[in-house]
Amino acid sequence: MSITAPAVIDGPQTDYDAYSDEALLDPWRGYRMMRDAGPIVFLKKYNMYAATRYATVAHILRTPEVFPSGEGVMMNDQMNQVLRGNTLCSDGAVHDASRRIIVKPLTPKSLKPLQDEIQREATSLVERLIRRGRIEAVGDLASHLPVTIVSELVGLPEEGREQMLTWASEMFNCFGPSGPRTEKSFPVLAEMMAYATNQAVRGKLRPGSWAEAILDAADRGEVKPDQCPVMMIDYMGPSLDTTISAIGSAVWLFAEHPEQWDLVREDPALIPSAVNEVLRLESPIQDFSRSVAVDHNLEGIALPAGSRVITYYGAANRDERQYPDPDVFDVRRNPVDHLGFGAGPHACAGMNLAKLEMRAVLTALASSVRRFELHDARRPVHNILRGFTSLDVTLHT
Ligand code: HEM
Repeated sequence: MSITAPAVIDGPQTDYDAYSDEALLDPWRGYRMMRDAGPIVFLKKYNMYAATRYATVAHILRTPEVFPSGEGVMMNDQMNQVLRGNTLCSDGAVHDASRRIIVKPLTPKSLKPLQDEIQREATSLVERLIRRGRIEAVGDLASHLPVTIVSELVGLPEEGREQMLTWASEMFNCFGPSGPRTEKSFPVLAEMMAYATNQAVRGKLRPGSWAEAILDAADRGEVKPDQCPVMMIDYMGPSLDTTISAIGSAVWLFAEHPEQWDLVREDPALIPSAVNEVLRLESPIQDFSRSVAVDHNLEGIALPAGSRVITYYGAANRDERQYPDPDVFDVRRNPVDHLGFGAGPHACAGMNLAKLEMRAVLTALASSVRRFELHDARRPVHNILRGFTSLDVTLHT
């Protein structure tokens, strides 16, 4: 189902370019404009609808019979073709079968034995970084757990692993609407797919790893063997950049709001709430999309079958209809219902691991870092991810 303008467009329309450099670096005013225009707004430049209100995004994510993922959740036709059949881009029984395999090592029960190791690793990392004082918090701090412990658990061959950070970020760029920024990343995605096909194979994977469990499941007939490479992408793509962005955003928010850091330090029991608040306010994945399977009346607007709706998690999480003072960072808010991990059948399979990593890093920091002094913060212009390329910070004890 290719992305073309519907014959008849109902509801509000806008010329606003949600993927201009300016909009990607500072999306909040544009999100507010779209939320105020209606439950969904047609983006004329991209021939897709945009859902930005909390209730609308939650409804779409929880109604897969109308808004399936099997036609892809990306904003361009090529990518929707490439990732066909992975967990993210499938529905019904096929989705259930692959999700069951992917989620197995990521349940709270499976992760429990790793909890102490992850905390120990975070604590010793923070001790080392404190001795240094001034750090680059994305590379030195936020990336550490995902590229060490998590990469080891996934168990892909060492050879090529160093590419993984570039691949993961470029892969998410490929999710954007057609255009130079998206297409520039396509060759990198081809490299990643080649790695998933040729390197993520029996004999090259770490024995007992999560990646090997995918092949074991295929041997048992639980998924088709040709699904294995795209299922590897289920781990390769989202296990790194998302969490790195989230930890980077946490450091940035606490540097900008020292009074909120004081609250966390005074009462570390607030850390789980702070984690939710960071994910609400600076959602690492800002948007994916859904196709429309059948004609559907969405809050009074006629959505034609065959059209596509972009679901803006990042905008929904700042909807004043759902959260009072939505732009305020308040670690006591505990927004457990935020949509930063999505919702419905495709809600993030790795959320327990991501939260565990975030909690471990914040716990380690809270016990010894009094203040984050921010010298410089750089963001990438990225189609999907919100985070930082670098954060120059001094850790004061
Ligand atoms: C803070 C970190 C993370 C964020 C913000 C995040 C966000 C998301 C979101 C928004 C979705 C929903 C996609 C949709 O609605 O179509 C999703 C799905 C998914 N995530 Fe995450 N993610 C994070 C970490 C992880 C980690 C660490 C892993 C794996 C180790 C992971 C694996 C997945 C998978 C496999 C799916 C697809 C689930 C499905 O389609 O059933 N994520 N994630």
